[in-house]
Amino acid sequence: MTDVMDGPGATPEVVVPSVDVAPESQPVGWRHKHLLDVDGLSATDLDLVMRTADAMREVLARPITKVPALRGRNVTILFYEASTRTRVSFEVAAKNLSADVVNIAAATSSVTKGESLVDTVRTVEALGAQMLVMRHGVSGAPYLAAEVFGGSVLNGGDGWHAHPTQALLDLYTMRSRLPDGGSVAGRKVVILGDVLHSRVARSNIWTLTAAGADLWLCGPPTLLRGFEAWAGRGAAAGRRFTVTSDVGAALRDADVVMALRIQRERMAAGLLPSLREYAARYGLTRERLALAREDALVMHPGPMNEGVEIAADVAAGSQSVITDQVTNGVAIRMALLYLLAGVSAGSASGSAAPGSGAS
Ligand code: CP
Repeated sequence: MTDVMDGPGATPEVVVPSVDVAPESQPVGWRHKHLLDVDGLSATDLDLVMRTADAMREVLARPITKVPALRGRNVTILFYEASTRTRVSFEVAAKNLSADVVNIAAATSSVTKGESLVDTVRTVEALGAQMLVMRHGVSGAPYLAAEVFGGSVLNGGDGWHAHPTQALLDLYTMRSRLPDGGSVAGRKVVILGDVLHSRVARSNIWTLTAAGADLWLCGPPTLLRGFEAWAGRGAAAGRRFTVTSDVGAALRDADVVMALRIQRERMAAGLLPSLREYAARYGLTRERLALAREDALVMHPGPMNEGVEIAADVAAGSQSVITDQVTNGVAIRMALLYLLAGVSAGSASGSAAPGSGAS
């Protein structure tokens, strides 16, 4: 990964596209062919995504939530791991833009007969795919796909590595719901839970520190391994980034608390004594949430283990914006499909490599 984006405090100047027309018909300053991670996005890029999502939200408020922008374009959704939110919201987003959508679940494809990722990607391209949305259990798989696919690749989550659209919809949700105009700069944002296995946390670290947030990562020491070093590099680059197992210190006066799922499917033996002990020491309960600001936002990328990392009454409470996150996922994914389609249809080219997450 690269070390920094533009840096906190950059003043973006963006031209917001008119989303009712084809993306290639208007220059908006977006230069990335793929969206593999958020580490290559500048503050100006982030602002353009946020403002384009605002325009998409206006579309979603219309009686008919469809615009012709991607008419005739094939968006293929290829998921090797289970998903509800990401897969469905990409499908809804692409259909709202009038794209032709093809859904492939690896479990019912020729992957089960031994077909390689590269073969599958070449095959879906031969069948007409122009934009490829993919989720894969192996970190870096979308980078490999981007090397062989002629169109745009959008990462819907790869291993522990990255979940760029989730981080962008999280930032969008904060900007929509935080008081005083929604700026994240200077706000204390806490990510609490299984940070070690979380691609959501890794992508959020980039977007939130680029937006100037005072970011805290909190969880048991075994689930924070390696992040102290990252925090040190971030702090040296002017990013506000604290790593702690002290849940009281993390939550005190927080503006946003994002609980993360305990990823039992990725958990090695010995990292946690038991889920019950985790819930007792780190679960986001009403009592713990009381340490944060009284108007603090409660977030969770989903899916949730209620009663483990978050209490059911907190998840459904008045401070929760968890369903907003899901809804905003459609606007953000419409924005990204739209912006990338403009590059795919235009002049941009280039392959991707790890360390250049948006390329
Ligand atoms: N947040 C998220 O990625 O959820 P899904 O696994 O349901 O897509």
